[in-house]
Amino acid sequence: MKTLGIGLIGSGFMGRCHVNAYNSIASIFKVSQKPVLKMLADASPELASQQAKALQFEQSTADWQELVQHPEVDVVDITAPNHLHHPIAIAAMNLGKSVYCEKPLACTLAEAQEMANLARSKQIPTLVGYNYLQNPLMRTAREIVQSGEIGEPIAFRGVHAEDYMANPLSPYTTRLDASQGGGVLYDLGSHIISLARYVAGPIQEVLGNLTTVVPERPSGDTTRLVHVDDQTHCLVRFENGCVGTLEASWMAWGRKMHLAFELTCTKGTLVFNQEQFNELRLYDANQKAGRDGFKTLLSGPDHPHYSAFCPAPGHQLGFNELKVIELLQLLRALEGGDACWPDFTEAFEIQKVLEAVKLSSEEARWCSPQSMITN
Ligand SMILES: NC(=O)c1ccc[n+]([C@@H]2O[C@H](COP(=O)([O-])OP(=O)(O)OC[C@H]3O[C@@H](n4cnc5c(N)ncnc54)[C@H](O)[C@@H]3O)[C@@H](O)[C@H]2O)c1
Repeated sequence: MKTLGIGLIGSGFMGRCHVNAYNSIASIFKVSQKPVLKMLADASPELASQQAKALQFEQSTADWQELVQHPEVDVVDITAPNHLHHPIAIAAMNLGKSVYCEKPLACTLAEAQEMANLARSKQIPTLVGYNYLQNPLMRTAREIVQSGEIGEPIAFRGVHAEDYMANPLSPYTTRLDASQGGGVLYDLGSHIISLARYVAGPIQEVLGNLTTVVPERPSGDTTRLVHVDDQTHCLVRFENGCVGTLEASWMAWGRKMHLAFELTCTKGTLVFNQEQFNELRLYDANQKAGRDGFKTLLSGPDHPHYSAFCPAPGHQLGFNELKVIELLQLLRALEGGDACWPDFTEAFEIQKVLEAVKLSSEEARWCSPQSMITN
Protein backbone atom coordinates (compact mmCIF):
# COMPACT_ATOMS: atom_id res chain seq x y z
CA MET A 1 0.00 0.00 0.00
CA LYS A 2 1.25 3.52 -0.80
CA THR A 3 2.07 5.75 2.15
CA LEU A 4 0.99 9.31 2.89
CA GLY A 5 3.39 11.41 4.98
CA ILE A 6 1.66 13.31 7.77
CA GLY A 7 3.05 16.45 9.41
CA LEU A 8 1.04 17.47 12.46
CA ILE A 9 1.32 20.91 14.06
CA GLY A 10 0.02 20.92 17.64
CA SER A 11 -0.45 17.92 19.89
CA GLY A 12 -3.16 19.05 22.30
CA PHE A 13 -6.81 17.97 22.42
CA MET A 14 -7.31 17.99 18.66
CA GLY A 15 -3.79 16.87 17.73
CA ARG A 16 -4.15 13.62 19.66
CA CYS A 17 -7.59 13.10 18.20
CA HIS A 18 -6.21 13.44 14.65
CA VAL A 19 -3.43 10.97 15.48
CA ASN A 20 -6.04 8.44 16.56
CA ALA A 21 -7.73 8.86 13.17
CA TYR A 22 -4.45 8.38 11.25
CA ASN A 23 -3.65 5.26 13.25
CA SER A 24 -7.02 3.61 12.77
CA ILE A 25 -8.31 4.63 9.35
CA ALA A 26 -6.62 1.92 7.26
CA SER A 27 -8.09 -0.81 9.47
CA ILE A 28 -11.62 0.62 9.25
CA PHE A 29 -11.98 1.90 5.69
CA LYS A 30 -10.64 0.58 2.41
CA VAL A 31 -8.09 3.22 1.49
CA SER A 32 -5.24 3.09 -1.00
CA GLN A 33 -2.80 5.22 1.03
CA LYS A 34 -1.73 4.49 4.59
CA PRO A 35 -0.96 7.58 6.72
CA VAL A 36 2.55 7.56 8.20
CA LEU A 37 3.33 9.91 11.12
CA LYS A 38 6.40 11.71 9.74
CA MET A 39 6.88 14.85 11.81
CA LEU A 40 5.30 16.61 14.76
CA ALA A 41 5.75 20.33 15.43
CA ASP A 42 4.90 21.89 18.75
CA ALA A 43 5.59 25.10 20.65
CA SER A 44 9.03 24.15 22.05
CA PRO A 45 11.69 21.57 21.13
CA GLU A 46 11.15 19.75 24.45
CA LEU A 47 7.38 19.53 24.06
CA ALA A 48 7.66 18.55 20.40
CA SER A 49 10.20 15.80 21.16
CA GLN A 50 8.28 14.44 24.15
CA GLN A 51 4.97 14.40 22.26
CA ALA A 52 6.55 12.93 19.12
CA LYS A 53 7.81 10.00 21.22
CA ALA A 54 4.47 9.53 22.95
CA LEU A 55 2.49 9.70 19.71
CA GLN A 56 5.09 7.77 17.68
CA PHE A 57 6.09 10.34 15.08
CA GLU A 58 9.40 9.74 13.31
CA GLN A 59 10.72 13.28 13.89
CA SER A 60 9.92 16.46 15.79
CA THR A 61 10.57 20.19 15.51
CA ALA A 62 9.64 23.45 17.20
CA ASP A 63 9.61 25.18 13.82
CA TRP A 64 6.44 24.57 11.82
CA GLN A 65 8.17 25.91 8.67
CA GLU A 66 10.63 23.00 8.83
CA LEU A 67 7.70 20.61 8.98
CA VAL A 68 5.92 22.24 6.04
CA GLN A 69 9.11 21.99 3.94
CA HIS A 70 9.88 18.39 4.91
CA PRO A 71 10.04 16.49 1.59
CA GLU A 72 8.24 13.44 3.00
CA VAL A 73 5.34 15.42 4.47
CA ASP A 74 2.45 15.22 1.99
CA VAL A 75 -0.37 16.46 4.26
CA VAL A 76 0.06 19.40 6.64
CA ASP A 77 -2.33 19.01 9.54
CA ILE A 78 -2.96 22.13 11.66
CA THR A 79 -4.26 21.63 15.18
CA ALA A 80 -2.41 24.64 16.60
CA PRO A 81 -4.29 27.73 17.90
CA ASN A 82 -6.45 29.70 15.46
CA HIS A 83 -3.96 32.50 14.65
CA LEU A 84 -1.53 29.93 13.18
CA HIS A 85 -4.04 28.40 10.75
CA HIS A 86 -3.58 31.03 8.05
CA PRO A 87 0.23 31.34 7.83
CA ILE A 88 0.76 27.57 8.00
CA ALA A 89 -1.94 26.73 5.45
CA ILE A 90 -0.69 29.34 2.99
CA ALA A 91 2.91 28.10 3.29
CA ALA A 92 1.82 24.48 2.81
CA MET A 93 -0.43 25.18 -0.19
CA ASN A 94 2.31 27.25 -1.84
CA LEU A 95 4.36 24.05 -1.81
CA GLY A 96 1.40 22.15 -3.30
CA LYS A 97 0.66 20.22 -0.08
CA SER A 98 -2.81 19.23 1.08
CA VAL A 99 -4.02 20.84 4.29
CA TYR A 100 -6.23 19.45 7.04
CA CYS A 101 -7.02 22.39 9.33
CA GLU A 102 -8.99 22.68 12.53
CA LYS A 103 -11.90 25.11 12.78
CA PRO A 104 -12.50 28.03 12.58
CA LEU A 105 -10.63 28.41 9.31
CA ALA A 106 -8.91 31.67 10.30
CA CYS A 107 -9.03 34.71 12.58
CA THR A 108 -10.28 37.16 9.93
CA LEU A 109 -12.35 37.05 6.79
CA ALA A 110 -9.46 38.32 4.66
CA GLU A 111 -7.27 35.43 5.84
CA ALA A 112 -10.04 32.90 5.22
CA GLN A 113 -10.65 34.29 1.76
CA GLU A 114 -6.97 34.06 0.85
CA MET A 115 -6.88 30.46 2.04
CA ALA A 116 -10.01 29.48 0.10
CA ASN A 117 -8.82 31.28 -3.05
CA LEU A 118 -5.39 29.64 -2.97
CA ALA A 119 -6.86 26.17 -2.43
CA ARG A 120 -9.23 26.71 -5.35
CA SER A 121 -6.65 28.20 -7.74
CA LYS A 122 -4.12 25.46 -7.01
CA GLN A 123 -6.84 22.76 -6.84
CA ILE A 124 -5.46 21.50 -3.55
CA PRO A 125 -7.61 19.13 -1.48
CA THR A 126 -8.37 20.79 1.85
CA LEU A 127 -10.40 19.68 4.86
CA VAL A 128 -11.63 21.60 7.91
CA GLY A 129 -12.46 20.07 11.30
CA TYR A 130 -16.17 20.80 11.50
CA ASN A 131 -16.46 17.21 12.69
CA TYR A 132 -20.12 17.27 13.72
CA LEU A 133 -21.03 17.42 10.02
CA GLN A 134 -19.54 13.92 9.71
CA ASN A 135 -22.20 12.37 11.94
CA PRO A 136 -23.99 9.76 9.78
CA LEU A 137 -27.32 11.09 11.10
CA MET A 138 -26.54 14.63 9.86
CA ARG A 139 -26.48 13.27 6.32
CA THR A 140 -29.86 11.69 7.06
CA ALA A 141 -31.21 14.95 8.51
CA ARG A 142 -30.13 16.82 5.40
CA GLU A 143 -31.69 14.19 3.12
CA ILE A 144 -34.99 14.41 5.02
CA VAL A 145 -35.05 18.20 4.59
CA GLN A 146 -33.88 18.28 0.97
CA SER A 147 -36.30 15.56 -0.16
CA GLY A 148 -39.23 17.64 1.10
CA GLU A 149 -40.38 14.65 3.19
CA ILE A 150 -41.49 16.96 6.00
CA GLY A 151 -42.19 20.01 3.84
CA GLU A 152 -40.35 23.29 3.69
CA PRO A 153 -38.13 24.63 6.53
CA ILE A 154 -39.81 27.48 8.39
CA ALA A 155 -37.96 27.80 11.72
CA PHE A 156 -34.49 26.86 13.01
CA ARG A 157 -33.40 27.07 16.65
CA GLY A 158 -29.70 26.31 17.00
CA VAL A 159 -27.37 26.45 19.98
CA HIS A 160 -23.90 25.41 21.02
CA ALA A 161 -23.60 25.78 24.78
CA GLU A 162 -20.89 24.45 27.10
CA ASP A 163 -19.68 25.53 30.55
CA TYR A 164 -15.88 25.42 30.35
CA MET A 165 -15.53 29.19 30.99
CA ALA A 166 -18.56 29.57 33.28
CA ASN A 167 -16.37 29.89 36.36
CA PRO A 168 -15.13 33.52 36.44
CA LEU A 169 -11.87 32.19 37.88
CA SER A 170 -11.18 30.09 34.77
CA PRO A 171 -7.83 31.44 33.57
CA TYR A 172 -7.16 33.55 30.51
CA THR A 173 -6.26 31.43 27.43
CA THR A 174 -5.74 32.06 23.72
CA ARG A 175 -9.47 31.39 23.32
CA LEU A 176 -10.00 34.80 24.99
CA ASP A 177 -7.53 36.70 22.83
CA ALA A 178 -9.24 38.60 20.01
CA SER A 179 -6.04 38.76 17.96
CA GLN A 180 -5.81 34.96 18.10
CA GLY A 181 -9.36 34.37 16.88
CA GLY A 182 -10.84 34.21 20.36
CA GLY A 183 -14.43 34.46 21.56
CA VAL A 184 -17.23 31.96 21.84
CA LEU A 185 -18.72 32.96 18.49
CA TYR A 186 -15.59 31.68 16.72
CA ASP A 187 -14.97 28.78 19.08
CA LEU A 188 -18.46 27.26 19.40
CA GLY A 189 -20.70 29.47 17.26
CA SER A 190 -18.80 28.28 14.20
CA HIS A 191 -20.01 24.71 14.86
CA ILE A 192 -23.72 25.57 15.07
CA ILE A 193 -23.38 27.77 11.98
CA SER A 194 -21.82 24.82 10.12
CA LEU A 195 -24.78 22.62 11.09
CA ALA A 196 -27.35 25.34 10.32
CA ARG A 197 -25.95 25.75 6.81
CA TYR A 198 -25.72 22.00 6.28
CA VAL A 199 -29.26 21.15 7.36
CA ALA A 200 -31.32 24.32 6.78
CA GLY A 201 -29.34 25.94 3.95
CA PRO A 202 -27.40 29.14 3.20
CA ILE A 203 -27.86 32.10 5.55
CA GLN A 204 -29.06 35.38 4.08
CA GLU A 205 -28.97 37.79 7.04
CA VAL A 206 -28.10 37.87 10.74
CA LEU A 207 -28.68 40.18 13.66
CA GLY A 208 -26.20 39.35 16.40
CA ASN A 209 -25.62 40.42 19.98
CA LEU A 210 -22.23 39.55 21.51
CA THR A 211 -21.78 39.96 25.25
CA THR A 212 -18.82 39.66 27.62
CA VAL A 213 -19.93 38.35 31.00
CA VAL A 214 -16.56 38.15 32.77
CA PRO A 215 -14.55 41.27 31.84
CA GLU A 216 -11.34 40.18 33.56
CA ARG A 217 -9.79 36.72 34.08
CA PRO A 218 -6.83 35.42 36.09
CA SER A 219 -3.54 35.22 34.19
CA GLY A 220 -0.58 33.95 36.25
CA ASP A 221 -0.12 36.26 39.25
CA THR A 222 -2.23 39.00 37.70
CA THR A 223 -5.42 39.40 35.64
CA ARG A 224 -6.11 40.25 32.00
CA LEU A 225 -8.99 42.17 30.48
CA VAL A 226 -11.30 40.19 28.20
CA HIS A 227 -12.42 41.84 24.96
CA VAL A 228 -14.22 38.91 23.36
CA ASP A 229 -17.72 37.49 23.71
CA ASP A 230 -18.67 34.91 26.35
CA GLN A 231 -22.14 34.63 24.81
CA THR A 232 -23.56 35.26 21.35
CA HIS A 233 -27.24 35.50 20.53
CA CYS A 234 -28.38 35.96 16.98
CA LEU A 235 -31.52 36.21 14.84
CA VAL A 236 -31.14 34.57 11.46
CA ARG A 237 -32.89 34.55 8.08
CA PHE A 238 -32.06 31.77 5.63
CA GLU A 239 -32.12 32.20 1.84
CA ASN A 240 -35.03 29.73 1.59
CA GLY A 241 -37.25 31.90 3.82
CA CYS A 242 -36.69 29.89 7.01
CA VAL A 243 -36.06 32.10 10.06
CA GLY A 244 -34.65 31.39 13.49
CA THR A 245 -32.05 31.87 16.16
CA LEU A 246 -28.43 30.86 16.76
CA GLU A 247 -26.73 30.91 20.16
CA ALA A 248 -23.26 30.18 21.46
CA SER A 249 -22.12 30.21 25.08
CA TRP A 250 -19.24 28.85 27.13
CA MET A 251 -20.94 30.19 30.28
CA ALA A 252 -23.85 27.72 30.29
CA TRP A 253 -23.46 25.90 33.62
CA GLY A 254 -24.36 22.25 33.29
CA ARG A 255 -24.11 22.15 29.51
CA LYS A 256 -21.19 19.96 28.45
CA MET A 257 -21.75 19.51 24.71
CA HIS A 258 -25.14 21.06 24.02
CA LEU A 259 -24.75 21.46 20.27
CA ALA A 260 -28.39 21.19 19.38
CA PHE A 261 -31.02 22.28 16.91
CA GLU A 262 -34.71 22.05 16.22
CA LEU A 263 -35.77 22.53 12.62
CA THR A 264 -39.48 22.97 12.06
CA CYS A 265 -40.78 22.38 8.55
CA THR A 266 -44.31 22.75 7.17
CA LYS A 267 -45.03 19.01 7.66
CA GLY A 268 -42.80 17.99 10.53
CA THR A 269 -39.85 18.69 12.79
CA LEU A 270 -36.30 17.41 13.32
CA VAL A 271 -34.59 17.59 16.71
CA PHE A 272 -30.91 16.87 17.41
CA ASN A 273 -28.55 17.16 20.37
CA GLN A 274 -24.86 16.22 20.15
CA GLU A 275 -24.96 14.89 23.74
CA GLN A 276 -27.01 12.02 22.26
CA PHE A 277 -25.57 12.21 18.78
CA ASN A 278 -26.55 8.69 17.77
CA GLU A 279 -30.20 9.81 17.87
CA LEU A 280 -32.21 12.00 15.53
CA ARG A 281 -35.79 12.79 16.52
CA LEU A 282 -38.34 13.14 13.76
CA TYR A 283 -41.95 14.30 14.01
CA ASP A 284 -44.05 13.66 10.93
CA ALA A 285 -47.29 15.70 10.93
CA ASN A 286 -49.02 12.94 8.98
CA GLN A 287 -49.94 10.80 12.00
CA LYS A 288 -53.20 9.68 13.54
CA ALA A 289 -54.55 12.12 16.15
CA GLY A 290 -53.92 10.84 19.63
CA ARG A 291 -51.17 8.53 18.38
CA ASP A 292 -48.79 11.19 17.16
CA GLY A 293 -45.38 11.94 18.58
CA PHE A 294 -41.68 12.13 17.83
CA LYS A 295 -39.92 8.97 16.77
CA THR A 296 -36.24 8.44 17.47
CA LEU A 297 -33.98 7.30 14.63
CA LEU A 298 -30.99 5.42 16.06
CA SER A 299 -27.78 5.48 14.05
CA GLY A 300 -27.02 2.18 12.40
CA PRO A 301 -25.63 0.47 9.29
CA ASP A 302 -28.30 2.09 7.09
CA HIS A 303 -26.60 5.43 7.70
CA PRO A 304 -23.42 6.36 5.80
CA HIS A 305 -20.11 5.00 7.19
CA TYR A 306 -21.63 3.52 10.38
CA SER A 307 -21.21 -0.08 9.20
CA ALA A 308 -17.45 0.40 8.77
CA PHE A 309 -17.26 0.61 12.57
CA CYS A 310 -20.04 -1.72 13.63
CA PRO A 311 -22.52 -4.06 11.88
CA ALA A 312 -25.24 -3.65 14.51
CA PRO A 313 -27.63 -0.66 14.85
CA GLY A 314 -27.91 1.32 18.07
CA HIS A 315 -24.46 0.34 19.35
CA GLN A 316 -23.34 3.97 18.94
CA LEU A 317 -20.39 5.80 17.43
CA GLY A 318 -18.17 8.13 19.50
CA PHE A 319 -16.57 11.53 18.94
CA ASN A 320 -13.24 10.06 17.77
CA GLU A 321 -15.06 8.04 15.13
CA LEU A 322 -16.43 11.25 13.61
CA LYS A 323 -12.79 12.30 13.16
CA VAL A 324 -12.02 9.03 11.34
CA ILE A 325 -14.96 9.69 8.99
CA GLU A 326 -13.66 13.25 8.57
CA LEU A 327 -10.19 12.02 7.63
CA LEU A 328 -11.73 9.63 5.12
CA GLN A 329 -12.89 12.69 3.16
CA LEU A 330 -9.29 13.75 2.63
CA LEU A 331 -8.01 10.31 1.69
CA ARG A 332 -10.81 9.85 -0.82
CA ALA A 333 -10.13 13.30 -2.33
CA LEU A 334 -6.42 12.46 -2.62
CA GLU A 335 -7.37 9.24 -4.39
CA GLY A 336 -9.18 11.40 -6.95
CA GLY A 337 -12.69 10.98 -5.56
CA ASP A 338 -15.15 13.68 -4.51
CA ALA A 339 -13.94 16.94 -2.97
CA CYS A 340 -13.68 16.95 0.83
CA TRP A 341 -16.60 18.20 2.87
CA PRO A 342 -16.22 20.69 4.42
CA ASP A 343 -13.28 22.14 2.49
CA PHE A 344 -11.77 25.64 2.65
CA THR A 345 -14.51 26.98 0.37
CA GLU A 346 -17.27 25.88 2.76
CA ALA A 347 -15.24 27.02 5.79
CA PHE A 348 -14.93 30.45 4.14
CA GLU A 349 -18.74 30.57 3.82
CA ILE A 350 -18.98 29.77 7.55
CA GLN A 351 -16.40 32.51 8.27
CA LYS A 352 -18.55 35.03 6.36
CA VAL A 353 -21.44 34.25 8.71
CA LEU A 354 -19.16 34.64 11.77
CA GLU A 355 -17.99 38.04 10.55
CA ALA A 356 -21.53 39.14 9.71
CA VAL A 357 -22.75 38.21 13.21
CA LYS A 358 -19.88 40.15 14.78
CA LEU A 359 -20.36 43.23 12.59
CA SER A 360 -24.12 43.24 13.12
CA SER A 361 -23.54 43.24 16.89
CA GLU A 362 -21.04 46.12 16.65
CA GLU A 363 -23.29 48.18 14.40
CA ALA A 364 -26.67 47.03 15.82
CA ARG A 365 -28.11 46.18 12.40
CA TRP A 366 -28.88 43.18 10.19
CA CYS A 367 -25.86 42.09 8.10
CA SER A 368 -25.60 39.80 5.12
CA PRO A 369 -22.75 37.24 5.06
CA GLN A 370 -22.53 37.65 1.29
CA SER A 371 -21.82 41.37 1.63
CA MET A 372 -18.81 40.63 3.86
CA ILE A 373 -16.44 39.64 1.04
CA THR A 374 -13.22 41.66 1.00
CA ASN A 375 -11.56 42.89 -2.19
N1 LIG B 1 -13.23 20.28 15.88
C1 LIG B 1 -13.42 20.37 17.17
O1 LIG B 1 -14.39 19.82 17.71
C2 LIG B 1 -12.44 21.13 18.00
C3 LIG B 1 -12.39 20.97 19.37
C4 LIG B 1 -11.41 21.67 20.09
C5 LIG B 1 -10.53 22.52 19.42
N2 LIG B 1 -10.64 22.66 18.07
C6 LIG B 1 -9.70 23.55 17.35
O2 LIG B 1 -8.43 22.91 17.33
C7 LIG B 1 -7.38 23.89 17.46
C8 LIG B 1 -6.53 23.51 18.66
O3 LIG B 1 -7.38 23.43 19.79
P1 LIG B 1 -7.02 22.42 21.00
O4 LIG B 1 -8.22 22.40 21.87
O5 LIG B 1 -6.47 21.16 20.48
O6 LIG B 1 -5.89 23.27 21.71
P2 LIG B 1 -4.72 22.76 22.66
O7 LIG B 1 -4.28 23.94 23.42
O8 LIG B 1 -5.12 21.53 23.40
O9 LIG B 1 -3.58 22.33 21.62
C9 LIG B 1 -2.88 23.28 20.83
C10 LIG B 1 -1.52 22.71 20.49
O10 LIG B 1 -0.84 23.64 19.65
C11 LIG B 1 0.48 23.81 20.15
N3 LIG B 1 1.09 25.07 19.71
C12 LIG B 1 0.90 26.31 20.21
N4 LIG B 1 1.68 27.19 19.55
C13 LIG B 1 2.38 26.48 18.63
C14 LIG B 1 3.36 26.81 17.65
N5 LIG B 1 3.79 28.06 17.48
N6 LIG B 1 3.87 25.82 16.86
C15 LIG B 1 3.43 24.55 17.00
N7 LIG B 1 2.50 24.17 17.91
C16 LIG B 1 1.99 25.13 18.72
C17 LIG B 1 0.29 23.71 21.66
O11 LIG B 1 1.51 23.51 22.36
C18 LIG B 1 -0.64 22.50 21.73
O12 LIG B 1 0.07 21.29 21.59
C19 LIG B 1 -8.08 25.24 17.56
O13 LIG B 1 -8.11 25.83 16.29
C20 LIG B 1 -9.50 24.90 18.01
O14 LIG B 1 -10.47 25.83 17.57
C21 LIG B 1 -11.55 21.97 17.36
